[in-house]
Amino acid sequence: MKKQTLVNHPPAVEVPADNRPVVAPIYQTVKFEFDSVEEALRAQHGERPGFSYLRTSNPTLRQLELTLAELQGREDCVVCSSGVGVVAQTLLSLTRTGDHVLAFIESYGPTRQLLHRTLAKFGVTHTLLSIEDLPGVERVLRGQPTRLVIFESPTNPLNKIADIAALTRLARAHGALTVLDNTFAGVHQHGQYDIDLFLHSLTKFVSGHGDVMGGAVIGPERLIRGLRTDFTVLGGVLDPHAAFLLQRGLKTYFVRYQAQCRSAQRIAEFLEPHPAVERTYYPGLASDPGHALARVQMSEFGSVVSLSLRGGTAAAVRFTDSLQLFSMAASVGATDSLVMPPQMLTGRDLTEEQRRISGVGPGTVRLSIGLEDTDELIEDLAQALARAQD
Ligand SMILES: Cc1ncc(COP(=O)(O)O)c(C=O)c1O
Repeated sequence: MKKQTLVNHPPAVEVPADNRPVVAPIYQTVKFEFDSVEEALRAQHGERPGFSYLRTSNPTLRQLELTLAELQGREDCVVCSSGVGVVAQTLLSLTRTGDHVLAFIESYGPTRQLLHRTLAKFGVTHTLLSIEDLPGVERVLRGQPTRLVIFESPTNPLNKIADIAALTRLARAHGALTVLDNTFAGVHQHGQYDIDLFLHSLTKFVSGHGDVMGGAVIGPERLIRGLRTDFTVLGGVLDPHAAFLLQRGLKTYFVRYQAQCRSAQRIAEFLEPHPAVERTYYPGLASDPGHALARVQMSEFGSVVSLSLRGGTAAAVRFTDSLQLFSMAASVGATDSLVMPPQMLTGRDLTEEQRRISGVGPGTVRLSIGLEDTDELIEDLAQALARAQD
């Protein structure tokens, strides 16, 4: 081979079958070849296993999909390039003109935006209710054929707990699919409920380190098959290197999630009686309105703690600006603690009445608790609360 040809056909390095790598290699390749046209066509027709093109699948992505499906207790999974990507691709795949979707005021902002901006353009309508309004859910489902109900638990940012058993029962009775964006609860929770599809932003707890984005939809094989076909042409494919990092993140997922939740619990208990704090929102607190339901539904209560400061926006801004160990940044679930001020939590698409129902007020601040020493985080919060009261 001439050198220019050689660099495009480098020597193959075979690993003996009894000499496996302990960590699966990253298949950083878009294409997979076959030795003959016949075998390539058999693979394309699903008559033999094999990979062809990254946008359809790749062994590194497939390993992540199989792990996530097992963690969530379902048959199959498709990953894609971000959490928002998976929400968008799933809703685009499942709905058609004339369909109606039931969503919630407390739903993640871009999910609401997808409904009232993007899907509305294709004639998909939706209703927004409070996640606490079960009679409203029954009324809407009885009154209007509904393709799917999409919700979250705990909700962002105030940690409201959805009654999953009631919602799934009502949806099933009226022939609607249930789609739970389970990002805040994590990939190991809520599998015992009759949810059709679980969505996840893998950017949060699965990555865990705030350095990679990804999304996943998990459910029965019969639904995932259709989603996979549509995802292939919607094109939000996860890069193999990102899939590798997400798979690596899963190795420490449980220790991180549990430690972050323990720290969040102690921080919520510190904040709750503090004179500068009007209210603390954490389902692990016995006083939280969602506590009893959360204890039935969840093994851990999550790493997001929100609070409402006395003194409104001015106090919330002084508090946020005074924190030293919490970075003011979007996202949750990573090893570093984060804070979001009220101006960045308010849904600009919501009406006054919907904002009141959402519960996010002028003094609301969201904390995402990371893996720093809990005592040091509490010290930092204490000094920032003192400044907030100045
Ligand atoms: C509940 C929920 N769903 C989806 C997303 C979107 O995920 P990503 O940032 O990976 O697109 C987020 C991000 O904050 C989220 O909190």
